Amino acid sequence: MKLFNQRNALSKWVRQEKMAGKSIGFVPTMGALHTGHIALIKQARSENNLVVCSVFVNPIQFNKAEDLKAYPRTLDSDLAQLEQSGCDAVFCPEVKEIYPEPETRVYDFGHLDKVMEGRFREGHFNGVAIVVNKLLNIVEPHRAYFGEKDFQQLQVVRALARMEGHDVEIVSCPTVRESDGLALSSRNVRLTEAQRKEAPKIYQALQMARDLYPGHGVHFIKENVTAHINRSSELTVEYFEIVWADNLLPVDTPEAGRTAVACIAVYAGPVRLIDNLTLYS
Ligand code: PAJ
Repeated sequence: MKLFNQRNALSKWVRQEKMAGKSIGFVPTMGALHTGHIALIKQARSENNLVVCSVFVNPIQFNKAEDLKAYPRTLDSDLAQLEQSGCDAVFCPEVKEIYPEPETRVYDFGHLDKVMEGRFREGHFNGVAIVVNKLLNIVEPHRAYFGEKDFQQLQVVRALARMEGHDVEIVSCPTVRESDGLALSSRNVRLTEAQRKEAPKIYQALQMARDLYPGHGVHFIKENVTAHINRSSELTVEYFEIVWADNLLPVDTPEAGRTAVACIAVYAGPVRLIDNLTLYS
């Protein structure tokens, strides 16, 4: 597995491989890798000749300094897992390599980045868009892989790729969960034993929403799901929304054949967990 710290060296290597006819799959990450990330690498592995992964904790997508500081950094274990899962090249740049100058760019994603994560984490998606745009410019992959776990991010990245005219296929990958339903996340290691025990309630609540939809009203579903989680002394719902999958606008009345998504953010102490589940009607 090749290791790159410099953007120019990586770009040059990728260009040579593309000239030799190789297809490139790209998986951007912030490290602290777990089975969810590795599933993305494996999917990229099966659909491309070469897989490139980036490990970069992007400072400008964190809206709280404590969260950036507390973000787990496990590079040695990350590299071992990447090597084992058949990744061909890893990009681990220093912050200065990605941001030689302060960033001022402001994207306009309209409604997409104003709701849910965008509403509660101001500037988050602008930071994600800036770094993903830079990474796509450096790697110029044929396909880039993103998890459905971050459903809103996936939609923002699709909009970004269209806006910037990137010649890339954005591929979405299903959410990988623990056996008790908790979505894998780099933040799960920060949960106390008591919080970890209660955390599967998040997925249970989403399943409850799926079972109640579309027969029961959206308002009723929201009340019940929120109450199910808030009954736990370890968990507090920040938001729970049912939105249309294509534009993230809130669902008022379910429509036959149109896919909706239930999206949730929950605090377990200081740890913020997000999850979502597709609702069919
Ligand atoms: P990170 O949180 O490290 O996630 C990297 C990729 O792994 C994202 O596409 C995310 O959706 C996916 N992922 C995380 N947990 C998953 C799970 N349980 N199942 C399936 N996929 C999962 O998302 C980011 O990093 C950053 O915002 C990034 C896109 C790298 C830009 O900095």
